Amino acid sequence: MRIAIVYHSGSGNTKALAEVIASFLPEAKLFKLGEFNSATLPAYDGLLIGSYTWGDGDLPAKMIPFYEELETADISHLTTAVFGTGETNYHHFCGAVNLLRDMLYVHSSLAVTLKVEQMYQTTDLPRIEKFTTIFKQALQSKIKNTCMTKELIS
Ligand SMILES: Cc1cc2nc3c(=O)[nH]c(=O)nc-3n(C[C@H](O)[C@H](O)[C@H](O)COP(=O)(O)O)c2cc1C
Repeated sequence: MRIAIVYHSGSGNTKALAEVIASFLPEAKLFKLGEFNSATLPAYDGLLIGSYTWGDGDLPAKMIPFYEELETADISHLTTAVFGTGETNYHHFCGAVNLLRDMLYVHSSLAVTLKVEQMYQTTDLPRIEKFTTIFKQALQSKIKNTCMTKELIS
């Protein structure tokens, strides 16, 4: 079971959230956006993407090429999840999470999303843990179903 967590953070809130998510998923590899090679996507079973929101509910500029790669690649084998930080005083709270969610829903098996107000607090930890548990359950179920389908076909 190979899992990648890929995040983009400007001032550290999303980085901290990605790191705590990684602590709940010890089997996952954590990548900053610029360090992840999209050509390795076929080798993964699970992908979690983290982003802050910019502008008026927008993706940060650096996230757009990755979004477009995912939109055009075959990622139907991937179980995915999206997380992000934002500020509720903006009109589109965590709009980048919504944009990634809608795209991944179409192109992959989207399991779960998580939105957090700026820097996560200890009170957010139960929600964060639940996010990772739901992701793991969806991933295991997809792997099991894929194996059963292969057995039926062969
Ligand atoms: C110019 C600007 C625009 C922003 N627009 C939004 C927005 O539309 N929606 C939102 O939820 N947060 C918005 N934010 C807040 C950031 O997404 C939020 O502070 C986030 O936690 C930053 O994450 P980072 O520390 O990982 O960079 C904006 C922040 C700035 C500076």
